[in-house]
Amino acid sequence: MARDGKIVGVGPLGKVEKLREARRAEKIDVGGRVVLPGFVDAHTHLIHAASRAEEYELRIQGASYEDIAKRGGGILDSVTKLRSATAAELNGRARAALLEFAGYGTTTVEAKSGYGLDLASELKILALQKDLRREQPLEIVSTFLGAHVVPAEFRGKTGGAERYIELLVGQMLPAVAKEGLAEFCDVFCDRGAFTVAQSRRILTQAKLQGLAPRLHAEQLSRTGATQLAVRLGARSCDHLEHINAADIAALAGSRTVATLLPGCDFHLGSGLYAPARKLIDAGALVALATDYNPGTSPTLSMPMILSLACTQLRMTPAEAITAATINAAYALERDDRLGSLEAGKQADLAVFEVEDYREIPYYFGMQRCWMTVKNGAIIYMKD
Ligand code: NIG
Ligand code: FE
Repeated sequence: MARDGKIVGVGPLGKVEKLREARRAEKIDVGGRVVLPGFVDAHTHLIHAASRAEEYELRIQGASYEDIAKRGGGILDSVTKLRSATAAELNGRARAALLEFAGYGTTTVEAKSGYGLDLASELKILALQKDLRREQPLEIVSTFLGAHVVPAEFRGKTGGAERYIELLVGQMLPAVAKEGLAEFCDVFCDRGAFTVAQSRRILTQAKLQGLAPRLHAEQLSRTGATQLAVRLGARSCDHLEHINAADIAALAGSRTVATLLPGCDFHLGSGLYAPARKLIDAGALVALATDYNPGTSPTLSMPMILSLACTQLRMTPAEAITAATINAAYALERDDRLGSLEAGKQADLAVFEVEDYREIPYYFGMQRCWMTVKNGAIIYMKD
């Protein structure tokens, strides 16, 4: 039972019906379907201008993600496309995506900038995210990812990367902080992006400006980014395909969440997935997210991610659902309010047309979400 967007009672019908408010409450009969907390998608690159389907085909023909990036494709291609897109185009594309997120049972979405990579374009993305918060029902958590890669105009010049970092730390971060446009700051710390030393500098500055750190870590190679995330007290470090035993131990001994993104490995066809079992068995906190983005994971379906988590990461259906709800809420510092069905929490629900919760990952690639509720209001209903 919910009142004013919050859960006031949970449990068997007999118990909930005894609550005083139950008499006047409007009943929604979900017909024996399975009700979960709404999914919390803790890693997306929501705002981008277009797909990169041409690269998808190039990769199928043998080019690697990094080859394409070295030739100026990849993230830089998305940057070119974003810079020339209008705010209205970007808003329209993101709104359509958010509607679709809701259709798969997602009620909260973290969204990173990072396809702008100059002051005006990064602020444009974050301002659009702020507008979207008012214009549609999903909760959007903003992360500044100005350190996605070094933009083209700074490449091939002596000290180009350092000059971009100067700009990022000296102008972009203060502008983002001053306008309150982001809660978190992320860095893509990997081969071809930023080094551990550069990431440390950026995230230390971000912390000083009130933005909490998170990291893209060990996706393409092992750099030591995970240990940096732990040392900085980051809420989350994400990807982790290349982590080693020491990284697993460091995560297990910390409160930093290992956010795994199996959609990337599936879409890139890499065959290498993060060692979820070892992380869980060692006692690390594990979350799952879509990483919705045009380069490595063009999906916004959390149920598909659950299927991959079960078959490829060997997580049980219960572990996968926990990772996509309460653990993801913790990774976004929202576990006090989101991620589980308990009295006092926000009434964010996803109702699935299945008889057993295990059928949610079991029916892979299928649309089984029947109803989504945000703050006590129905925002999606399957027709
Ligand atoms: O999370 N790794 C860096 N960022 C994205 C990919 C972005 C892109 O290719 O456009 C990721 O996989
Ligand atoms: Fe990402």
